Amino acid sequence: MSYNVLLIGSGGREHTLAWGIAKSPKLSKLFIAPGNPGTASLGDNVNLNVSDHNAVLEFIESNAIDLTVIGPEQPLVEGIADFLDAKGHAVFGPKQQAAMLEGSKEFAKDFMKRQNIPTAKYEVFSQDEFDKAAEYIKSENNYPVVLKADGLAAGKGVLIPESEEEALKALEELRSGSLSGAASRLVIEEFMEGEEASVFAICDGDSFKVIGNAQDHKRVGEGDTGLNTGGMGAYSPAPIVTPELLQNVEADIIKPTIDGMKAEGYPYQGILYVGLMITSEGPKVVEYNCRFGDPECQVIVPAMRSDLLEVIAACTEGTLSEAVIDLDSRYRCTVVMASGGYPEAYEKGKEITGIEKVDKAIVFHAGTKMEAGKLLTNGGRVLNVVAEGETLKDAIDASYAQINKIHFDKAFYRSDIGAKGLKRVT
Ligand code: AMP
Ligand code: GLY
Repeated sequence: MSYNVLLIGSGGREHTLAWGIAKSPKLSKLFIAPGNPGTASLGDNVNLNVSDHNAVLEFIESNAIDLTVIGPEQPLVEGIADFLDAKGHAVFGPKQQAAMLEGSKEFAKDFMKRQNIPTAKYEVFSQDEFDKAAEYIKSENNYPVVLKADGLAAGKGVLIPESEEEALKALEELRSGSLSGAASRLVIEEFMEGEEASVFAICDGDSFKVIGNAQDHKRVGEGDTGLNTGGMGAYSPAPIVTPELLQNVEADIIKPTIDGMKAEGYPYQGILYVGLMITSEGPKVVEYNCRFGDPECQVIVPAMRSDLLEVIAACTEGTLSEAVIDLDSRYRCTVVMASGGYPEAYEKGKEITGIEKVDKAIVFHAGTKMEAGKLLTNGGRVLNVVAEGETLKDAIDASYAQINKIHFDKAFYRSDIGAKGLKRVT
């Protein structure tokens, strides 16, 4: 069978997915909604309001789409997979209840507790229980402590105060600010000491296959300092994820997650992103995401030698256990080129030059736009430069050698992507 595919999203992750899908001999036609100038060279970008499910349905029906692939979390948490599935259309990505693994921290924590999946100790408080929350923090007397607003917060819902005084102040801020809205709840967690890594599994509701691991760099500044961002760079595989650790993660975390979701009535189909803290007691879950990471996708998908479209289709058809997934074992590094000021205010519309000089890396677009034949910046994270190598150092050096060829006014990138991983390889 050959497929007409609709891919939803517009970031570096979606350019990467489009690139992977476009390589498939089974692809007939690829549409990306809304896409970016990078995806425009791989398929047709279409202007669709993804929150308008009926508009998406109409597009699918009038263009004979066989398979819809959802990149970002928002449409999944809003239930796009449920809606399209109910209309008889194949969708890659979890349904609304399964996407709650990312959409609600309370759901995720309670689920892990029920399924005995290792994670930080926690308590949940509602909006009228802030006095109780303050008492809990004082009685635990364990700092730093982690405060998380429930719901999707684009990485901004987590506070990690270092003392009782700071914690009570943070609680006050949460009480008066971001926790308005009837359904808002607060999760208070024990702080886990360790290094973070993420493992990605592709799932068909019944079974799963691990397709890679990576380390992201969430802070804007060198040495993991400054504000949190969507991610300034990533590398894969992460040396901290040894084969033995990966076996533990599969057996103690991923398998019970997939089995547990199925047993509880929410079979998980799509990409499961497991954010881990590698602690002295072993790997524990920091968070789940219901989609690929961005920029982690940019270093995971290029390692897939198997036909990505075929594997995605197998998930929607429930036949993943029969699929063979062939992964290449080279290292990959992606460095994000961002607009000066990001993640705070930044200017857009700067001309990007030099991409055509890049010869030993792939450039995946994120916040770019094409205007009058010129490529311009159009977001905080603008481009991802992805290079590969036999060693992690080769991959990192190759990314930086290529990113130096690209220019736009006020561009910046971190110069230490992958440094954490290099410390672990001898
Ligand atoms: P989350 O939104 O749950 O991914 O949290 C954002 C970031 O906060 C994570 O990537 C961690 O760096 C940090 N974090 C969250 N929960 C914990 C925890 N229990 N212990 C230590 N760090 C945490
Ligand atoms: N890079 C982090 C994320 O996609 O959530």
